[in-house]
Amino acid sequence: MVHPVPATVEPYQLLAFGEGRKIERFGSWIIDRPEPVATTFASSRPFDSIQCSARYTGSKIGAGAWDFQSKDLSNNTVDFCLDGRELKFELHLSDSGQVGLFPEHIAVAKAASAVVPMNANVLNVFGYTGFASTALAVTKQAAVIHVDASSSAIAQCQRNANINGLQGITTRKDDALAVLKRLARKGTRFDCIIADPPAFGRFKNKTWKLERDLHELVSVCSELLTPDGVVFLSGHSTGFEHHLERALLVAPQLRCIEQAELFLMCGNDKLHKGTCFVLGGPSCHIQTPIFA
Ligand SMILES: C[S@@+](CC[C@H](N)C(=O)[O-])C[C@H]1O[C@@H](n2cnc3c(N)ncnc32)[C@H](O)[C@@H]1O
Repeated sequence: MVHPVPATVEPYQLLAFGEGRKIERFGSWIIDRPEPVATTFASSRPFDSIQCSARYTGSKIGAGAWDFQSKDLSNNTVDFCLDGRELKFELHLSDSGQVGLFPEHIAVAKAASAVVPMNANVLNVFGYTGFASTALAVTKQAAVIHVDASSSAIAQCQRNANINGLQGITTRKDDALAVLKRLARKGTRFDCIIADPPAFGRFKNKTWKLERDLHELVSVCSELLTPDGVVFLSGHSTGFEHHLERALLVAPQLRCIEQAELFLMCGNDKLHKGTCFVLGGPSCHIQTPIFA
């Protein structure tokens, strides 16, 4: 039997998870895909009771293919409401099983929108398809430099900027650390820096390793930040908190003002998807908590 999806105004909803998979609603799309964090949970709700638009076969991300189960997948735009402003964001189902949006980052974009001043200068590194970049350009008319190593992520970010009619986002397909160092040498300053580094990454012959490079990222961020600016630095791998604590020793000007756990909620059940540290410059007077 197929149960209707409960009516909700939230465009994103985790509908069920367990046994290594999750089912999520993004606007009118319902997607069933692998979720490594859900392996230790029994299914929160029978998966076959939910009619999906698309299902990623295979037991892990990157090891399967999309099986489209709905006839009408023409509208892949999800409408969000942030700070009373409408934000359109396109889903992009990649061969690896990603959908073009990490839903745990919706909370980061909302938190940044809540504290960043109007017309802020924002730098978003490891920015993927640009949810936070478009969110801040829409809500704060921010001038955003968006950096990612992947051509398809940059192309998607440009599409997301276009469908929202935004002019204020400059995209750079480049190595995040190289861009940060170049901007620091030029003396550029940002009111807000958003960084969501993976455990491992690559741009051409340059590799990114969180364990090796996080302290340099934090140190250059502290040079690039205005005294009252704010950094949202998130991580998703084991040991991220420990690496960050050590990295902060090389940037005494930055102070941790909030540590938020990034959860996806399904009723009262939670999937833990990472941690976001909010770091303030020496004159940052942002009121906490920022994350609702
Ligand atoms: C975890 S995702 C970021 C998700 C993003 N914050 C969001 O919520 O939409 C990591 C991103 O880092 C990018 N990446 C990996 N290595 C990189 C590097 N050396 N320089 C810049 N970007 C890199 C990947 O292409 C990927 O888009």
